[in-house]
This record gives sequence, structure tokens and C-alpha cells, in this order.
Amino acid sequence: MADHAMVVSAHPMATAIGVAVLRDGGNAVDAAVAVHWALAVTSPWAGNIGGGGFLVLRQADGRSLALDFRETAPAAATHDMFIGKDGRADPDISELGALSCGVPGSVAGLFALHDSLGRLPMARLIQPAIELARHGCVLSPLEAKDLNGCLRKLRLYSSRPNAFTAKDRWQVGDTLFQPELANTLERIRDLGPDGFYRGETARAIVAEMDRTGGLISAQDLAGYTPVWRPVVKGRYRDTEVISMPPPSSGGVLLLQMLEGMEGMDVRRSGWQTAPTIHRMVEVERRAFADRSVHFGDPCFTEVPVAGLLSDQYIAERLADFDPERATPSTRILAGEPPVEHEQTTHISIVDAEGNAVSCTTTLNGMYGSGVVVGGAGFVLNNEMDDFSAAPGVPNNYGLTGGEANSVAPGKRMLSSMAPTILERNGELFMVLGSPGGSTIPTSVFQVILNVVDHGMGMQQAVNAPRFHHQWLPDTIQAEVGSIAKQDSLRLVHMGHHFKARRPLGRVDAVLVRPDGKLEGGADPRGEDHARGY
Ligand code: GLY
Repeated sequence: MADHAMVVSAHPMATAIGVAVLRDGGNAVDAAVAVHWALAVTSPWAGNIGGGGFLVLRQADGRSLALDFRETAPAAATHDMFIGKDGRADPDISELGALSCGVPGSVAGLFALHDSLGRLPMARLIQPAIELARHGCVLSPLEAKDLNGCLRKLRLYSSRPNAFTAKDRWQVGDTLFQPELANTLERIRDLGPDGFYRGETARAIVAEMDRTGGLISAQDLAGYTPVWRPVVKGRYRDTEVISMPPPSSGGVLLLQMLEGMEGMDVRRSGWQTAPTIHRMVEVERRAFADRSVHFGDPCFTEVPVAGLLSDQYIAERLADFDPERATPSTRILAGEPPVEHEQTTHISIVDAEGNAVSCTTTLNGMYGSGVVVGGAGFVLNNEMDDFSAAPGVPNNYGLTGGEANSVAPGKRMLSSMAPTILERNGELFMVLGSPGGSTIPTSVFQVILNVVDHGMGMQQAVNAPRFHHQWLPDTIQAEVGSIAKQDSLRLVHMGHHFKARRPLGRVDAVLVRPDGKLEGGADPRGEDHARGY
């Protein structure tokens, strides 16, 4: 709980760095930039300079904008590059190694963000990350376990020894020193985006691609540009929901799902009861069916956002909703709206002036492609797997897609990230988002319902167990203990299928309470940390 400002991120050191920036006179943008640089060091499984992300910004005066720093396909990428000799999509090459790497967007994104509203000098914001990389970070139990779990891929797909492969087995309490990453961050500090997209770092990336058979070229790097986009907006009950537009599907799916819940008195039907879950699953499966057909990079395909979000369309989509029976996903196709491995990390920040930043950034899989840029010390993403390798072939998250999300040079791959901000009565109300690939929109959806309908506080809403449905596979994936036995039995009788699964999402969030205090919600599914002043 804090009176003035709050930072919630996946790592206590990154959170502390963000709070120090705010105390130093920085605003939410400065803090977000500093926290992102810090996470690239403290949390290299997802925090990154070799990946990309999305951000929603709401200024204290109510204006909002979205920043798209999603990776792009290299110019040499081709439509069928992930189809093997047998004519089938080959997940080994789309998920691992050099061909899975998109052109990174994070560094350009952070500079674009800082250029917009940043107050403190960039050197001040990046320096703490440089110190951490040089002086080392002590590994927690989860970090040691995850790093050990990824060592094989980091060895197999990187052409040079690197900080991560320095040991055969990492122990809790070991210090991870990243001197090459510190040098790369210093080049960025001194040269700006050119410290990454041109010169020594760019040469290291291209050399790594040459050694490992990747496609990213010097021209791809020099040509990368982040894009400011208008946010997508919708209402839920008495709140205004502001989220990320395509090329992420996350914001639109979230708004579709929330609109689909308007017809139900969720407060009365109760938290995690069979009727509530049934309705949530039915709106989720219809939204994800739309995702499989209508979504892609808006520069390459027309995404009918307004149609997908129109009240009439969503009502039509739910016209066959039966309160007593599950609709099998085989009976649900994408609608026809009127035309007009999962590792990601989220930051939610509110500053003392009321500016808010909601930022989700990713390498896609844990430690991304497994390719560490030789001599430059950072992991490259495996975001190319977010394209549809072939129509109907599921990616790492089990998501299918069609031509709208096929590979093409320079195209942004479809995402599910949903950095989101809510207003109530025109004032800032909540800032939230999550990692988790396809489970991002549904995790954010549930946390919003927990607060708006079920009256929970921020931490309680984040802690509450979650479930997920994404149309295909036609299964409710549920955290252990998330649904009481009598409710799951009733849902099975209604025709639903269940699968228990590991923790869903890792939501980091801030709530503005009625008394004006800020309540952080840091997800206990990770080692996330909220701190304010
Ligand atoms: N890489 C996960 C996503 O963008 O949805």
C-alpha cells in the first residue's frame, strides 16, 4: 500500500530501481524505462533487450496512447519458412534457434517512450542495470531452477560461451555476472539506439545469425521502428477499459470478453461458481475463435476491430449461448464482424502525478530462442513462433491462426499481450497486465472481474486462482484449487472438459483505492514485488 506512487514488477531489484527513479523526480515513463533495463539483467528469462513488447500509457490528464515495439520478421523471412520437407510445420525451427528470432524492438521502444515524456536523462535510467550486470545478481531458487532448465537450449543454440553457460549447474545463491551485457548496455547508454541497431552490437547480432543460420541482417536492425498507436477502449460496468490494439489480439479479446459478461449479474452468480465460469468460458471460446481468423499485423491485414467490438456483434456471437450446456468448440467458428512457451513479463507503474504505465515485454519462450548473441551477452527472442506456420497448425501456446497471421518480411507477428488501464469516473482506477501467451487476456479478464464484480482488493484479486479457455483445445485449463468440486462436477455435466495445469499468468497490478491510496498486487505465482512510497 502506498500514498503516492507504486511500482510492481517481476523482480524486487527492478521494482526498487523503479521506486528510486520516482523518488528522484522521475515520472512513470522514466520508471518504466529503468525497470525494463533492470529486468533485462535481473530476469533474462523474459526481461530483455533482444525481444519486444507493448505498452499502454495514461497521462494524468486522461490522454492515453499505446506503443508497439513488437519484433518484426526479417526481410529474408518467407511464407513457408517453417514448413519442413514433409510438408508439415516444424515447431523445432519456429520455436528454437536462430530462425525463430524476430528483429528485436525493445531498445527502440524504450527510446521512443523516453523521448515522449521522459524527464530524467537516459543515462540515469540505464546505469543501475549496467551496475547489476557488471556486479552480478544473486539467483533465487526459482531463477536457478529456470536457468538450469534452459541450459541445454542455451548451449545448443548459442555459438559462443556466455554468462548463462558459465556453469554446468547453477545453485541458489550463485551470482550471475553478465559483463558482456554490461558492455552492450554501456554502448546503448553512450550511443542511444545506434548502440544496439548499428555498430558493434548490430555486428555481433549479424555475426551470431551468420554462425547459427539466422536471417536478421544489418538492414533489418537499422530499419526497425516502433509505432505509436491509438489505444482500444471499451466500457465494463462503471469502468472505462483502455488496452492494446493489434498487432496484439490481447486488448480486443479482453474487451470482447468483458462485453460478453455484461449480460450477467456476476456479483449475484458468485465468484468461481459453475454458472459464472460457464459464461466466462463461453465468451472466451468465442473470442479466441475470432482470434484464429481475424487478427494479424494491421499493416498487412485489415483487422475489423470496430466490428469485433460492436455490442451488436458480441450479442450475435452469444445468441446461441445456453446457460445449461457447453457449446462444443467444433460448433464455434470465427464470426463475421462488420468490416470497417511462455515467458513474458509485465510492469505496472503509477507515479505521484497520476501518470500510469502498463507495459508487457517478452522473449516469447523462457530464455527466448536460446540464442545468446556472442560477445554481446543477451538472449534473442523466439517470437517468429507467434506467426501461424501453416493454417490451423497450433503454435507453442496451442493457438491456431490463418493467412492473416502468416509469415511475411517486415511483418509483426500476432500477440496476446494485453497491457491495460482502467478508469472509473474519468479517474485512474487500475493498471494491470500479465505474461502467459494465450492466457494473458483471460488472466487480465479474471482479475478485472475479481475487482469490479467481486469487490476484491488488488492483491487478493491477483492471488485468486484462475482458469483459462482458448476455444481450441476445447478444455477448461484450471489451476489446482481454482474451482470447487461441486462446481466442476456441474460444469462437466454441462458438457465442459477440464485439465489441471501449472500456474496461469503472472499478473502485476496497481489499484487506486477509494481513499486515494495505491494498492499493489504482485503475483505470488512468481517472485514479483510491489513497492511504493
Ligand atoms: N509471445 C507471446 C505473445 O506475444 O502473445
